[in-house]
Amino acid sequence: MTPTVLHTTSFVPDATRLIIDASRAAISERGIFRIALSGGHTPEPIFKLWAATAGDLPWDRVQITFGDERCVPPDDEQSNYRMARHSLLDLVPIPPGNIFRIQGELPPEEAAAEYDARLTQLASRFNEPRYRHDLLLLGMGPDGHTASLFPGTEALTEQTRNVVHNFVPKFDTYRITFTYPLINAARHVCFLLQGDDKKPVIKQILAGDKAYPAAHVIPTDGRLTWILGWAAE
Ligand code: 6PG
Repeated sequence: MTPTVLHTTSFVPDATRLIIDASRAAISERGIFRIALSGGHTPEPIFKLWAATAGDLPWDRVQITFGDERCVPPDDEQSNYRMARHSLLDLVPIPPGNIFRIQGELPPEEAAAEYDARLTQLASRFNEPRYRHDLLLLGMGPDGHTASLFPGTEALTEQTRNVVHNFVPKFDTYRITFTYPLINAARHVCFLLQGDDKKPVIKQILAGDKAYPAAHVIPTDGRLTWILGWAAE
């Protein structure tokens, strides 16, 4: 499967358009849109524009999960959930029961086990061996990490569970993260990247370099898109 690479200087509108198009297609085909939100700073303006332009999207047909979370309470400024709440979830009529938050306030192992079990239970409702996102958003750091799959960390080797707790030495803290089996089960994975500091790594990944965690996002039976917020060089 060859990834789609979109260079754009209209990053936020183009990324938002992809999300809205994916939501309409999923709801039309399967009656539900299952999306995993990425964290960090990049997605925030995209979530805001989505909230402002979603129009008549039936939010009761949207199911929200989170690709990773810091081990902090939901109102902590480090929380990915908090960012999504302020930029999207509090601005749209989505039923609270459709939002599946990672409980970062719990001990890391417990938070991961709870979320893993939750996704397993949801998958069984869809008669799936593993929860299958319609669209799974990811960011990437300048070190090539994605979600909280950081270079040299244990979570990179997880082949069974959907979600694990992962100690990240560079931050001297745990994170809760999707694993490759869950990410690669998605119908469509879309990386959203902005920032000159990421250009060297993405260039190497697109050239086939497998040294970086983001390079191992290879949907088993799905699409992979990179939306890069800069003009092609
Ligand atoms: C997180 C994210 C992480 C993020 C990248 C890019 O919790 O930080 O999930 O994987 O997507 O670090 O972050 P920026 O968008 O802030 O550059």
